[in-house]
Amino acid sequence: MHEGRGNLSENSAPAAEADWLGLNGARVLIAGVGGLGGACARAFARVNARVAIADNDAEHLAKMAGDLSQDCVSIAADLSDPHDASTAVSDAVAAMGGIDVLVHAVGINIRKPVLEFEPEEWHRIQKVNLDSAFWLSQAAGRIMVHQNRGRIVIISSVSGLLAHANHAPYAASKGAINQMMRVMAREWAPYGVTVNAVAPGYIETELTQAYLSQEGHRQALSEMVPAGRLGNPDELTGPILFLASSHASFVTGHVLYVDGGRTLV
Ligand SMILES: NC(=O)c1ccc[n+]([C@@H]2O[C@H](COP(=O)([O-])OP(=O)(O)OC[C@H]3O[C@@H](n4cnc5c(N)ncnc54)[C@H](O)[C@@H]3O)[C@@H](O)[C@H]2O)c1
Repeated sequence: MHEGRGNLSENSAPAAEADWLGLNGARVLIAGVGGLGGACARAFARVNARVAIADNDAEHLAKMAGDLSQDCVSIAADLSDPHDASTAVSDAVAAMGGIDVLVHAVGINIRKPVLEFEPEEWHRIQKVNLDSAFWLSQAAGRIMVHQNRGRIVIISSVSGLLAHANHAPYAASKGAINQMMRVMAREWAPYGVTVNAVAPGYIETELTQAYLSQEGHRQALSEMVPAGRLGNPDELTGPILFLASSHASFVTGHVLYVDGGRTLV
C-alpha cells in the first residue's frame, strides 16, 4: 500500500488554511439534485469543490445550476440506465478533468402495502434506486481505482434497516444498497477508494412532501424520532462532506445514520 493513497488533496488545488476538509478543487459529481442532492451540491460548492450535477429532470438541473455560484456541468440523463449512468460519469470527467467524489442522491418511492404492488412498480424502484447506484459507482470506481484515490457516498435510508410498513420495494432497494456499498468498499479499499452510505431519517424534500402534508403524518413521524422532529436537508451535508474529505481516509464500508436517533428506538 502506498502512503497517502486516498488523500484527496494530493491532486487538488493547494489547500488554503480554511480548507480543513481538503475539498478545495476536488471534482465532485452529484447524481440526483432534488432536495438532498441539491443541498449537497451547494455545500460542496461552498467549500470550493468543482461540482457536476446529473439528473433526469431538466427543471431540477436548471434550478440547481442557477443556485450555484460557480459554472457547473449539468448532465441530463436517466441514471437508472447502465449506459446513460456510465456516460454521465465520463461526461463529468471530461468536463472537470477527472473525478474525486461521487455522491449518489437518486431515489423514488411508492408507498403501499406489499399485496398491492405491480411488477412494473417493483422494477422501477429497483432500477432507479439500486441500479443507478451500482452503475454510477462502477463507472466512477473504475476511474478511482485506476488513480488510487476517490470517495463514493451513497444516500441510503433508515428504511434499509427498519421494517417500515408500505415501503417494501424501497426498503429492499436501500438494504441492497448497503450491502452493495460494503462489497465495493472491500474491493476498492486497497486502492485508496472509500465507499460509504449515509442513511437519513425523514427529511422534508419533494420525495416526502406529499406524504408529510397528509393530516397527522408529520406529527406521528416526529414522535418516533428521539430528537422530536424531522431533519432538514442541510443536516445531511456535514456528514457527507466529512465522508468525502481527507479526514475520512480510513473510514469505509459504513452506513452513517443521520436520523435524530430514529434507529435507536
Ligand atoms: N427525503 C428523505 O426523507 C429521505 C430519507 C431517506 C433517504 N432519502 C434518499 O435520499 C435520496 C435523495 O432523495 P430526496 O429526498 O432528495 O428526493 P428528491 O425527490 O427531492 O430527489 C431525487 C432526485 O432524483 C432524481 N431522479 C429520479 N429518478 C431519476 C432517474 N431515473 N435518473 C436521474 N435522476 C433521477 C429526481 O429528478 C430528483 O432530482 C434518495 O435516494 C432517497 O431515497 C431521502
